[in-house]
Amino acid sequence: MVLRILFFGILFSLTSCSENSPEKVEVSKEEIKTPFTVADAKDLFLSKCTVCHGSDGKLCASQAKDLSISKLSDEEILDRIKHGKNAMPPFEGLIPEDQRKMLVSFVKTLKK
Ligand code: HEC
Repeated sequence: MVLRILFFGILFSLTSCSENSPEKVEVSKEEIKTPFTVADAKDLFLSKCTVCHGSDGKLCASQAKDLSISKLSDEEILDRIKHGKNAMPPFEGLIPEDQRKMLVSFVKTLKK
């Protein structure tokens, strides 16, 4: 009898343990799914791009172009962020593609 209780005790603790792990997996899945918004792109711009472009895009440090008067198309902006040009470094390995695309949307909000 004592053995049987012990057996079920162990069985119970085993099942309660495995009940916990799918929960943890779900949490991390949700984190990955979190969409990257234009507001997030603004934060990214403020941390990675303002040294040269300034928070309004007009700083023009290190011969950077004024983003508020840029005439580039979406494709060209995306390409510039990916590959860089002259003093502008390439961000291909530093910023994932979906975030670079959202940066394009943010850069366009700097235009007057
Ligand atoms: C180290 C300085 C530097 C940093 C950091 C930088 N840029 Fe630039 N950026 C430049 C320079 C210099 C140019 C001009 C390149 C050229 O055409 O000669 C430029 C050009 C651009 C252009 C093209 C503008 C035009 O009309 O030709 C875009 C768009 C741009 N940058 C976006 C960004 C974004 C977004 C970031 C952050 C992820 C960023 N830059 C970070 C220096 C920088």
